[in-house]
Amino acid sequence: MTDIRQDEPVTAAVLRDRLGERAREIVARYPADRSRSALLPLLHLVQAEEGYVSPSGVQFCAEVLGLNKAQVGAVATFYTMYKRRPTGDWLVSVCTNTMCNVLGGQEVYDSLSELLGVGHDETTPDGTITLEHAECLAACDYGPVMTVNYEFFDRVDRDSAASVVEELRSGGRPTPTRGARLCTLKEMAVQLAGFADPRDGAVADGRVGDASLRGLRLAQEHGVSVPGFDPDTPIRSKADADKAAERAKAEQAKADKAKAEQAEKAAPAGPPPVPADAKAAEAAGAAGNQPAGDAKPAGEGTGAQERNLAEAGGSTAAGAGAGGTPAGSAGSTPDGGEKEADK
Ligand code: FES
Repeated sequence: MTDIRQDEPVTAAVLRDRLGERAREIVARYPADRSRSALLPLLHLVQAEEGYVSPSGVQFCAEVLGLNKAQVGAVATFYTMYKRRPTGDWLVSVCTNTMCNVLGGQEVYDSLSELLGVGHDETTPDGTITLEHAECLAACDYGPVMTVNYEFFDRVDRDSAASVVEELRSGGRPTPTRGARLCTLKEMAVQLAGFADPRDGAVADGRVGDASLRGLRLAQEHGVSVPGFDPDTPIRSKADADKAAERAKAEQAKADKAKAEQAEKAAPAGPPPVPADAKAAEAAGAAGNQPAGDAKPAGEGTGAQERNLAEAGGSTAAGAGAGGTPAGSAGSTPDGGEKEADK
């Protein structure tokens, strides 16, 4: 790993202070019983603050959602978009997957690696540019492609890729082939957390390219369609999702009750006689195998989640953990979580 510019590490308490309000906004987007789904945008939010997901960021997310640090770390280390160490302002991703590779993607990557003097997932010493190999960037029809902070530069070759990088190094913001104007990786992380970017030209308004529409046109020409698919299917609002969750819960409770009543009716008057040796075996087995509990990881219980959400809902100065119970502290294994998060 190249030595790069490092900002002062930020503590979870500082993150609570800076990000508490936005974190509450993110959590409020999800149905009440699905708040852990807010983890992905929350991780982007902490990445927007530090440029990567630090151990403090992991702790912050765990506190807000009532998870333990191992659970947050497992998610943060699974997805490549969450960076585990400080990343440059400009993340240059070169697709070296099959289609781009046969069209020259690897040569583009190698030439940029030589030009910048860094390898995969490494950052230039001035902390401005991070280079990475990328798996398919879903633009095979424009291969070989590279992205800068997830905006596309299509059909690149060694020279065009080098000129993009040189412009970035000299403080410019090259214009992507498609998509919106470039912004820094931290600014992009704010958008990925679901907050609008107020800059002019921040939202792409270009038309879809002909290559991307080719399949659709062929399907139309040949009358191919997906039965029952409605491209205008509305996305459910949070209120509707909450109501649906309530209905599903009530229906499940009703079904459980009916099933229990039916079982009670069908059951014989008394239990079948149990042989004496079977009774002895059962007693021995029960003594040697105590129930394992509900198997939920520590900190996952509804109580912990509600408590942490309530704390996150307090004043930002008080914060989710100030005077409260940090996630996973009740019987959790913080050491294990830290190790996972630090991987
Ligand atoms: S293989 Fe490069 S975008 Fe798909």
